[in-house]
Amino acid sequence: MALRGVVAMDGPSGTGKSTVSRRLAQACSAAYLDTGAMYRAATLAVLRAGLGDDAPAAELARVATAASIESGTDPSAPTITLDGADVSAEIRGPEVTALVSAVSAVPEVRTELVARQHALIRAAVDGGGGIVVEGRDIGTVVVPEAPLKVYLTASPEVRAARRGRQDARAGRESDLHRTLADVERRDRLDSSRRVSPLYAAADALVLDTDLLSADAVLARLRELVAERGLGG
Ligand code: DC
Repeated sequence: MALRGVVAMDGPSGTGKSTVSRRLAQACSAAYLDTGAMYRAATLAVLRAGLGDDAPAAELARVATAASIESGTDPSAPTITLDGADVSAEIRGPEVTALVSAVSAVPEVRTELVARQHALIRAAVDGGGGIVVEGRDIGTVVVPEAPLKVYLTASPEVRAARRGRQDARAGRESDLHRTLADVERRDRLDSSRRVSPLYAAADALVLDTDLLSADAVLARLRELVAERGLGG
């Protein structure tokens, strides 16, 4: 199956969004863009500049918008580099995770990264293929005209347990209570920020993944691609 156009995948962390977005892109021979990884790489640049969440927003913006970030769009091998070096593991660490909501709430950072996302999306679509784009504001801000928008949800407890399993697989230490507190804190920050808060677009299909396996979500997404006439 091929894909024409953009599939917008939004929702909070721990809903299985990355797994199913990548697998959908692979199944459709489409490109894949993880916009969260871009915010994380910009946040790593901020940390490397010695800044924290007590830094003025203008300083965060200056460093984050100047960061040299390259995002690969191959779903079989997604890559993200900062200053030419692969940072895919480092951007998932606790320091970046603790600061990323603050950095991604700065309006200038969003304007810059959305412009870069538009360029990557345009390149994929102009090349005649489709792209699955995941994030928090894809269906509402980045590609509001996307022909398929999906918003994944799950309870905080299920999402914290998924994050814990991901940490264990990656060899990162984690504690379920702390992970749950972090999930809830980031939800609050991401949903209440002034610019591009996290919410489902009015025309997004909302899928609750508490009781759905990744295979079941993927099967539903493939049905939706076919039903909307986006497959080839
Ligand atoms: O999906 P993730 O956990 O890797 O995202 C990291 C952070 O980036 C998350 O706290 C919110 C932010 N983000 C955003 O504000 N907008 C996006 N399109 C993607 C991520």
